[in-house]
Amino acid sequence: MTKPTPSFVSGALPLAGHTLEFQRNSTGLDQRGRAEHGDVFGFKLMGKNVAVVTGAEYNKLFYTETDNSLNIREVYSFLKATFGEVLFTAPKERYQNQRPLLQAIFSRQKMAEYAVAMQYEVQRWLDRLGEAGEVDISAAMLDVTRDVAGHAFIGPDYERELGEGFWGDYDAISRSIDPILPPTWPLPKFIRRDRAKERLNAALKPLIAKRRQNPEQYNDLITQVLAQPEKDGTIPTDDEIVRLFMGLLFAGHETTAGQAAWTVIQLLQHPDYLQRVQAEIDAVLAPGQAIDGGVLRNLEHVYWAIDETTRLKPSAAMQMRIVEQDLDLGEVVVPAGWLIKVSAATSHHNDEAFADPERYDPLRFSPERNEGKNTFNIIGFGGGMHKCTGMNFAKNEMAVVVALLFQQFDVELITQDPHVVTGVGANHPSAAIVRYRRKRQSEHAVVQQEAVAV
Ligand code: HEM
Repeated sequence: MTKPTPSFVSGALPLAGHTLEFQRNSTGLDQRGRAEHGDVFGFKLMGKNVAVVTGAEYNKLFYTETDNSLNIREVYSFLKATFGEVLFTAPKERYQNQRPLLQAIFSRQKMAEYAVAMQYEVQRWLDRLGEAGEVDISAAMLDVTRDVAGHAFIGPDYERELGEGFWGDYDAISRSIDPILPPTWPLPKFIRRDRAKERLNAALKPLIAKRRQNPEQYNDLITQVLAQPEKDGTIPTDDEIVRLFMGLLFAGHETTAGQAAWTVIQLLQHPDYLQRVQAEIDAVLAPGQAIDGGVLRNLEHVYWAIDETTRLKPSAAMQMRIVEQDLDLGEVVVPAGWLIKVSAATSHHNDEAFADPERYDPLRFSPERNEGKNTFNIIGFGGGMHKCTGMNFAKNEMAVVVALLFQQFDVELITQDPHVVTGVGANHPSAAIVRYRRKRQSEHAVVQQEAVAV
């Protein structure tokens, strides 16, 4: 006897199905689906059937079946027009060929160097703040994560090397991303995208040429890529390096900015826990001290706060795949041709995995409670083969922001209730004004450029 397919959540409109609700409030849609049907249910998106699964077991199946019966590449095909074939938008063999390179970029040695770049750029931001004032933390984190990415991946001279127009062109490209409209239509945003891509190619290729000629003078992402052959021994072409660089910026920039801003906001909304974080920072990090792996390891309350914010305010709130072969989920089967989705709205609020799941409670990640032990309960950084390669980079960057900000400033949240803004690349908080005042005893000189080893 053939098994049934997942039951559909209520509220489908004729023709449109659940498309409008998905665009307006996919969290509400997923939560209603789970309340009505449990851990597996369906909805209708632009004429397609989508299955939503919840909980560690199904999430694990989703990630381990990716590149087997589930296809990641076609889901992200709208990114191909923007960044070309790179990472998971490249064919499977090409992706597997690039994997050692990805691992090398985020090796332990490189992470130590990135920590220096992070401290330098975050401190530079804090020094620009002056003695007291107000700032929109959502916007500020976008700037800080740009500077960190530029410094970490291009080196300390990144502003001059990338040129003034770089981020304007990057924005034109990232704002053109559209999962629905055909990317070749002659729309103004696609024309702006193509012109920006030409300018970025023209800006980045000379940097690659310089590094090919004199690799010993540089220690950055491009030299790393040039020195590290792919699995089959080939060295990437200039076009591939540009694609990789842009792909990494896209994967890691707005995602980290949004989650860093939410981490600060949620700490300010929970003064009891912030007190613990403050005590930890004061004990672990002396003014002007370099933030190395040892310091980061001791900031455990900070990392639990980051994990709790990933759970409650994830930048990446869902991931989708196309089902290529029928997927048997026990009582139901998800047929080939459907889409399948994992959802933070359901998995991260699952009371079988998290005690009192609506509560902000970072201590749930402490070793005593260990609610994070099954990593498949959290989908915020993905899982399996395609799990975010930049996860430790992002978490360390957020830890450096929190540690230096609260070490040097008293901060108060003025916008009491920022909301989630849904973006194509990542979700982020709406404008969130914080008021700050420099702590009197702090002596936090900018980490000197000469000390920066990258
Ligand atoms: C808070 C920040 C971040 C979040 C929430 C995040 C989230 C994710 C998620 C959910 C995936 C898996 C996508 C899928 O399975 O469909 C992913 C993959 C990836 N992320 Fe991140 N990411 C973050 C930061 C970064 C950073 C900083 C970088 C690099 C600088 C980065 C590079 C990547 C790469 C290369 C992949 C693809 C891995 C693969 O296919 O093997 N991410 N990220």
